[in-house]
Amino acid sequence: MPNEKFYITTSIAYANTAPHMGHAYEEFLADAIARYKRNCGFDVFFLTGTDEHGVKICRTAEKNDISVQSFVDKNAEEFQKFYASIDSSFDGFIRTSNKEQHWPGAQALWKKLSEKGDIYKSKYTGLYCVGCEAFVGERDLVNGLCPHHNAPPEKVEEENYFFRLTKYAEEIRGKIEQDEIRIIPEARKHEILALLEEGVADVSFSRPEGQIPWGIPVPEDQNQVMYVWCDALANYISALGYGTEDETNFSKYWPADLHVIGKDILRFHALLWPAMLLSAGISLPKEILVHGFLTSGGKKMSKTVGNVVDPKEYVEKHGSEALRSYFSREISPFEDGDFTDEKFLESYNANLANGIGNLVSRVIKMTEQYFEGKVKMKDTPEVPFKRKVETVSGVEEAAGVPFKYCINQEILPAYHEHMSRYELNKAADTVWALIKKLDGYVTDYEPYKLVKTDKEKTEAILANLLFGINVVADILSPFMPATSEKIREVLGATFAEDGNPVAFSVKHMDNPLFPRK
Ligand code: MSP
Repeated sequence: MPNEKFYITTSIAYANTAPHMGHAYEEFLADAIARYKRNCGFDVFFLTGTDEHGVKICRTAEKNDISVQSFVDKNAEEFQKFYASIDSSFDGFIRTSNKEQHWPGAQALWKKLSEKGDIYKSKYTGLYCVGCEAFVGERDLVNGLCPHHNAPPEKVEEENYFFRLTKYAEEIRGKIEQDEIRIIPEARKHEILALLEEGVADVSFSRPEGQIPWGIPVPEDQNQVMYVWCDALANYISALGYGTEDETNFSKYWPADLHVIGKDILRFHALLWPAMLLSAGISLPKEILVHGFLTSGGKKMSKTVGNVVDPKEYVEKHGSEALRSYFSREISPFEDGDFTDEKFLESYNANLANGIGNLVSRVIKMTEQYFEGKVKMKDTPEVPFKRKVETVSGVEEAAGVPFKYCINQEILPAYHEHMSRYELNKAADTVWALIKKLDGYVTDYEPYKLVKTDKEKTEAILANLLFGINVVADILSPFMPATSEKIREVLGATFAEDGNPVAFSVKHMDNPLFPRK
């Protein structure tokens, strides 16, 4: 599908802390999908960024005795650096405190809603959870506390602007039911439909400037600043130039093909955001992928429990590819996933040191030893897979399946099927299923023995293995781009016009890809 566009976003993280594991996972998830779509020929725009307004940020900066702007500048830089360190291939990084890039879009959107008559002034009396940056009702609380932050909400009584969310609730329900806004996985779709069933209320959409001086001014009332979620959601269009003189990217990339978010912010994305867009007459995002939370030892990461794992430490100690591999293999995008040091090392040794690292080293070494590093794909009789191996779908295939047939008819279709459904861990399973098959191929044919009696067949076997490793590099690239690149370098493949390798001139490897830990 060359030239078709694909606009993918992450949520924008609050710039009040350093990036944590949850941020790392979400960035990885969106990045792997963006890379996959680019591999498929899409014109991808991948947006990430930081959410820099709101009460939480304002107060944390005050507590640290630093100006809010310097505080968010410092944290936004941390986020950008961290995302680059895990090889995120983002095309845009939006900061909501940016007055040139973000404010015009957020204010233009406000004006549209206001012109439509969907904004009105009223008195708000209720509760506000600073942690969630959300107005909450009694029914959201457990024993009077916000269940996400274990803290009591604040009582608020003030004159605010409200947004008529209720006006759009029915229309949104229909669009979610019909998958016009597709919420993935299904369970999250049902969750939001159940919420709609309970009924929704209009949303308080601004705060008095006297209460929170840090925010985007409401266009027609300088005494009010926009509610942080109203401002933050607008990032998805402001980053494309909406509301500025240059709307080229907005015309080209909007609507978003995929918003990647965590489960705690579903209602903002599946209700509030579509309602704002409907009011403004802007088309709606097509899909919302809702991932779970990362826990440690089965528990929510928390400083009090002492189980917080810092992603930066892992990148520094083990490299970003090791972290990306863990995210790909061990976490299902749709459920909560666990991260512990023990599991991390276990996965590293099994999948990287013994799995892919060992296979590549062995095959490269044999090619160097027996053929001075150079082999050609042969037209000689096929050397099929010998043993019965479990297929990706769990069915035993018969012995004697032709080598390329197995890759083209079994591995690749399963891989693409899973990727298209954003089942990244299952797609990664198919990569490792191929690695296992290639390992089995070496064990069954024993090229290290065969070379003494049948050099020609040994060359065909090694060429097949190198061909298979080249496929591994291709399908691994969304998950582990640097490893994929390294493998391609050592393979030294020459390609035919159809894109298939015809010969290899392998490079010597001084070190294994992943030393055992
Ligand atoms: N600023 C808002 C998003 C605005 S989008 C217009 C926000 N920021 S956040 O920093 O609190 O969260 C950013 C993302 O990280 C969210 O998608 C959230 O679900 C995700 N995660 C926060 N903690 C997480 C884990 N422990 N595990 C996985 N993701 C989690 O919400």
